[in-house]
Amino acid sequence: MRFRLMTPNKMRTVLAALTLGAVAMTAGSALAKTSAREPQDVHFSFEGPFGTFDQAELQRGYKVYYEVCSACHSMNLLSYRDLAMKGGPFYDPKHPNTPPAQSPYAKAIAAGVQVSDIDTSTGDVVQRPATPADHFKAPFPNEYAAKAANGGALPPDLSVITRAREGGPAYVYSLLLGYEDPPKGMTVPDGKYYNPYMPGDMGSYWAGSKTEVPEGGFIAMPRQIVDDRVSFDDGTKSTSANEAHAVATFLAWAADPHQVERKQTGLAVMIYLFVLTLITYLSYRRIWAKIGH
Ligand code: HEC
Repeated sequence: MRFRLMTPNKMRTVLAALTLGAVAMTAGSALAKTSAREPQDVHFSFEGPFGTFDQAELQRGYKVYYEVCSACHSMNLLSYRDLAMKGGPFYDPKHPNTPPAQSPYAKAIAAGVQVSDIDTSTGDVVQRPATPADHFKAPFPNEYAAKAANGGALPPDLSVITRAREGGPAYVYSLLLGYEDPPKGMTVPDGKYYNPYMPGDMGSYWAGSKTEVPEGGFIAMPRQIVDDRVSFDDGTKSTSANEAHAVATFLAWAADPHQVERKQTGLAVMIYLFVLTLITYLSYRRIWAKIGH
């Protein structure tokens, strides 16, 4: 006898029930969650098929990360030498053959940071200046220390944050600038802040109508970006919008440093294919020109 798990009819019923269940679950969670506000419609130079990173802005963005965000957020996937790779904030187009690890910029930036290491002759933990090969220094030795210093909330690693959050750089920009007074009727828990761009569920802190919970959520990160928080060396005004824009740009570069090269290769391939099509078409015309058809 052939073994059969289910008759086709039974199978159909089970499938239908599963689909209905899935639909009900999505609908249920959509109702239970408050929705976050759509990120602002902000323009970035690297958007679109021809977009590129503005190197000066990448440098400003690194400065914002280094002076502000790196107090709480690690960027474990980056090394100091990455800053000098082609297309990076400190790439030097005048010396294209210098390997990023030999870049004087990467060396100088790394040398300004102290990292812990083990003295191999004594086994003691020592401090030494970083080298271009070192990963960005993390602000806390481990997750527990990071949480303990931030009221129990873990500041996420920012290496790929623009790919990890819906809305990407526009979300980061909007979140950094989006701190607002909580709506009347909202009790903000201790150590948290209201932010309309943060996805969250604030239903139980809301005194108003349960079907009209305001958009947004609570975030354990206090507002970081304010006017004049970071002074820019290139004379760009330190408005909070410029600071947030620069750091969102830097984080988008860090999360996908090869995107411009990829786009340019894609464009070259498209041009090549177009020319090839044209030549093929013209030779077709020529070959068939004198033949009656
Ligand atoms: C004083 C510490 C501190 C500083 C400084 C700080 N953050 Fe945070 N950040 C946090 C904490 C804590 C969280 C986790 C918040 C939570 O889960 O509620 C967080 C969360 C985030 C998130 C994730 C939000 C989400 O969708 O989950 C982003 C993005 C972020 N920070 C970006 C930045 C940037 C960019 C800077 C620098 C301009 C910065 N932070 C500076 C503490 C900090």
